Amino acid sequence: MIYLDSAATSYHKPDGVARAVAEAISHMGNPGRGAHEASLDASRVVYGTREKMAELFGAEEASQIVFTANSTESLNTAIQGLADPGDHVITTVMEHNSVLRPLYLCQQRGVSLTILPFSEAGTVTPEAIEAVIRSNTRMIVCTHGSNLTGDLNDLEAIGRVCKKHHLLFVVDASQTAGVFPIQMDSMNIDVLCFTGHKSLMGPQGTGGMCVRKGVRIRPLLVGGSGIDSYSKIHPQVMPTALEAGTLNAHGIAGLSAALDFIKKVTPDVIRQREEALTRRFVSQIKSIPGVKLYGNYEQFPRAPILSLNILDYDSGEIADALAQDYGIMTRAGAHCAPLMHEALGTKSQGAVRFSFSYFNTEEEIDQAANAIRELAEEAT
Ligand code: ALA
Repeated sequence: MIYLDSAATSYHKPDGVARAVAEAISHMGNPGRGAHEASLDASRVVYGTREKMAELFGAEEASQIVFTANSTESLNTAIQGLADPGDHVITTVMEHNSVLRPLYLCQQRGVSLTILPFSEAGTVTPEAIEAVIRSNTRMIVCTHGSNLTGDLNDLEAIGRVCKKHHLLFVVDASQTAGVFPIQMDSMNIDVLCFTGHKSLMGPQGTGGMCVRKGVRIRPLLVGGSGIDSYSKIHPQVMPTALEAGTLNAHGIAGLSAALDFIKKVTPDVIRQREEALTRRFVSQIKSIPGVKLYGNYEQFPRAPILSLNILDYDSGEIADALAQDYGIMTRAGAHCAPLMHEALGTKSQGAVRFSFSYFNTEEEIDQAANAIRELAEEAT
């Protein structure tokens, strides 16, 4: 099986990840819920993982890292917890439904929304953002890398706009965390939302947010916190303020091992490898008659994601042929990115998405390119 669907979830995990989860399941108590060794062990692992995440994003303190189940929970917490009725929020067509749907919910509660198109370069420019800022604009929410085209927004430039106009900057780093340099301070990010199971190579059910010190977010959930049990109010100290109930400490132990791997190999080396694989694939398929590529695929750096169609064949049919006849796993359809598909004109056809990881090989890329060539030849 050739797995080329890492934008949905990374399949090949670093060796230590499964081991760390198994060990945690065998030995861990509940983090922050007791003073015995099993609980303390869990607390140490969770705290240590916060420290590693904080280091990755250039945050000063481990307490800025909040753990959630995934990017969707993080983005819901950030968006619903920051936008008030009467506020104006700017976002982009490049967003996943994990950004769009919380924003549509806020719209029903009296938040106004501007959704910007992408430019010819495939991304949203800081100038376009600046042009739609209003006196009541409170926040910009945008993805770092499109989960459909892999095109990257310039976080540093957008962050400068946010700083100049005193706007909150919420970033969806689902496709890029751990691989591309993302720094809270130099990019002026207020809330960085990540998931553990994609580019961070950890287990599903892990995710989180890195919150700039001083940014207060209304919690989505309140409840058990392990502290202040007699208070009717959920603790306001970070990160507990945004964590209610038992954490997925078993998964977090796996994420911790994944972070160790990323640090050892280095994000630069991982990125270079993924870029080389992407370039190799693009160079082999871009001139195949009948194949249409989406996104600015000549532009690097880019997330290792590439979507295509063959003539007007339904993307699901092509993905099924790839899976059944060639053992190649891709993702077809809408990818939870409705506005991107509308903008690209692929709403009814969808697109076949290939997404690569550090663990893919050159041979796998070549086999995928050959499969596309054969399918396109059959189709034309
Ligand atoms: N958000 C994931 C994707 O893009 C699942 O496939």
